[in-house]
This record gives sequence, structure tokens and C-alpha cells, in this order.
Amino acid sequence: MPIKLLTLEDLELEGRRVFLRVDINTPIHPETGALMERTRLEEAALTVKDLSKSKVVVASHQGRVGRSDYTSLEAHARALGEILGREVSFVPDVFGPEALSRIDSLGDGGVLMLDNLRFTAEENQEYVPGEAERTFLVKRLREHVDACVLDAFSTAHRASPTVVGFAGLVPTCAGRTVGRELRMLDRIATVEKGPYVTVLGGAKVNDRLEAIDALIANGRADRVLLSGVVGLVFLKAAGKLRGDVGVDKEQALVVRARRLMDDDADRFVLPSDLAVRAEGGRKEVEPSQVASASQVLDIGSKSVDRFAHYIKGAGTVFMSGPPGAFEWEEFSVGTEGLLRAMASSLGTTIISGGHLSTALRKYGIHDQIDHISTAGGALVQYLAGKRLPLVDALERAAEKWGRPPHEQNRQQEAA
Ligand code: 3PG
Repeated sequence: MPIKLLTLEDLELEGRRVFLRVDINTPIHPETGALMERTRLEEAALTVKDLSKSKVVVASHQGRVGRSDYTSLEAHARALGEILGREVSFVPDVFGPEALSRIDSLGDGGVLMLDNLRFTAEENQEYVPGEAERTFLVKRLREHVDACVLDAFSTAHRASPTVVGFAGLVPTCAGRTVGRELRMLDRIATVEKGPYVTVLGGAKVNDRLEAIDALIANGRADRVLLSGVVGLVFLKAAGKLRGDVGVDKEQALVVRARRLMDDDADRFVLPSDLAVRAEGGRKEVEPSQVASASQVLDIGSKSVDRFAHYIKGAGTVFMSGPPGAFEWEEFSVGTEGLLRAMASSLGTTIISGGHLSTALRKYGIHDQIDHISTAGGALVQYLAGKRLPLVDALERAAEKWGRPPHEQNRQQEAA
């Protein structure tokens, strides 16, 4: 059933201070600290553009505490300004006096970006809506904003205060990204059919294992094709790779992978060859010939053909995470091969994550995919049939604020 939610057109936002929760969490170069792509920023810009008569407070998280991508949003503000072609000011504060006074001095059409929301303790926790409303983060900001736009689809699975805390306090609606994602996914759900093939790569092994659990539990993963670092963990669990992969808590991840394969070995398709760097170029070898997992930068050509066969025979195919380091030409064979197989599949095709969407554009085949989402974990939860806290918040908001504008004002005064 289509989800009922309010859009920008349903609220009176002109001249108002709008808290815009986006997700511009972006891969950061570990050495230079530079933003490695801009897909989520480009999406966020669409909503900012449509709020050109409001005073816009842009807010997002970036990375996770303790990781190298846990950084300030200063570079993001600069990049958003470049995309929009107008000034986006930045304040190195989230809800302290400096942030609040900068919000209060915004003029119509002004755009201010707050610093990384996860610099505050509360944003790193999950809450039920009533508790989220009582966090200092929401209580303080709420006094300085008149409305909230939720556009962070890729963090829709996190019940953090800025995702679920405003909907009951100020008029709240969906931004353009959330609207587009939900519309497309709703359309896809009506034509979804088996067999369901899931293609997972990339380096977030723990997240991928959670995705596999959720998709299997909901009958959405008849075959799981594995590549990237997650593929190496499964190869090690299958006894086909020597040495360590070099990921955090490796032993526990290998045990989980082993258990999944013990339950149903046929479901999992592992690479039969891998590409390593040798003599400055690409060399394809069997997994057992790899001396160190850190040399593996792609899957081999035989694996690409085998994976492509499953992708083309799928009724619905979901791909998340690149199979190799496609930023280097010689290691882009896997990523390009699997994306081209997706593009020519007759099944319903869904691709997740900024890296793959950047690669699709590079190969000029993005318009041959049914749905390209910048979301990772949130999309998996959605495809697995789980409820998303952000969508729940929007539904609550539609019930509460879905009235003519003059009544919204009265309601807001009473809230
Ligand atoms: C994502 O990139 O999937 C979202 O920004 C959520 O990030 P998280 O997994 O660190 O909560």
C-alpha cells in the first residue's frame, strides 16, 4: 500500500526556518581527508533548491565515532555551495550558542550547515519518538526552527533524535530524495518476482552479514553472489583462502559466514578466481594461490562470467558494494562486468550505494537500471520488509500536520 506522507508542497515553508535532515555521509579519503564522491550531496541539493524562499538549516551525520571518516562537515558545506552555485555557510557547532545564533540570523534564501550531528552524544543513540523529543539536541534546536524536512533516506533505519524527534513537535514533511526513493520502491514492489539474487561486495563486512540475514529471513535472497572484502571472508570461511583477510573482529565474522554456508551452501556463490596486483599490473589467480588478501583488488574474469549468468537469470536482482577497486582501470573488470550484466538483465534491477551509482554513470548505463539508490543499510532493511523509523515519523507527521496551513500554525503554537 502506498505510504501516506506530506511533501514540500503540503507545508507553508516560505520565510520559515526549516531544519533539513539529509544524509550526506560520504566516503572520505583516508590520507587526504577529501570527499571521494558527491552523489548524496547532489541529491540533497535538489531539496535545498526547492526551499529557496526558506531559511534552511542543513544537518547530517558523517562517519562513525572512532573511524577515519568521522570528520567535520566543513568540506561538505563547501561542496554543497559549489553544486548549488550559491553560498552555504558553515558553523562548527551543532546546538550550542554559536549554532543557535547563526540559525536566528539566517535571512530568507540563506543556507547554513551545522557540523557533524554525531559530534553530539545523543545522535549516536537510538530512541523511541517520545524520548527523542526530550533529548537536548532536539529540545534546543526545536526552539529555533519552525518546520522539519526529512530527506535522509539512507539513514531511515536509524532512530536517531534528528530522524524521529521533530515530527511530533513541528510540521514535518518528506524531502525530494525520500519522496523519490519511496515512490520508486513502491512501484518496484508491485512487479517484484523471483528468483531473488543478491550481489554483495565492498568492505563493510558486518553490514553485509546483517543484510544477508535480513534478506534470507524474508525470502529475498535465493542466491547470494559475494565479492569484495566480504567475498574474501566467505572464501576464508570455506577454507579456500590462506592467511588473514585483515578486517576487524575477523574470527567472529568468519564463524558467522561459515554458519550461513552450513545452513545452505548452494545459496552462496563465491569467486573462483581473483585479480591481484603483480608486476605493476593485473594478474588473475585462484583463491588458494593468493599469498596475502591485501593484494586482491578485484574478482577474476571467470567469476565475472559466472556471476553474470545468475544476474541475467534473476527475477529481481539487488546489488550493493563494488566487487573491486574500480577507480583503477585494471581492477574495474569486475565492477564493469557485473554492472553491465545488471543493465542487460530482464529482471527488476536495484542498485545501492554511492560508489556503484558513480560507476554506473562512468559506464553510461545508469538509465538501464530500474532503481538506483544512494542508500545502503536502509534500503536492505526496506527490501527485507522491515519498518523504517524515518518512514514511521513521516506517517505520524502526516496524521498530525496534514491539515490546511492556517490550522498547522495553530497546532504548532499548541505543541
Ligand atoms: C549509510 O551510509 O548507510 C548511512 O549514512 C548510515 O550510516 P551508519 O551505518 O554509520 O549509521
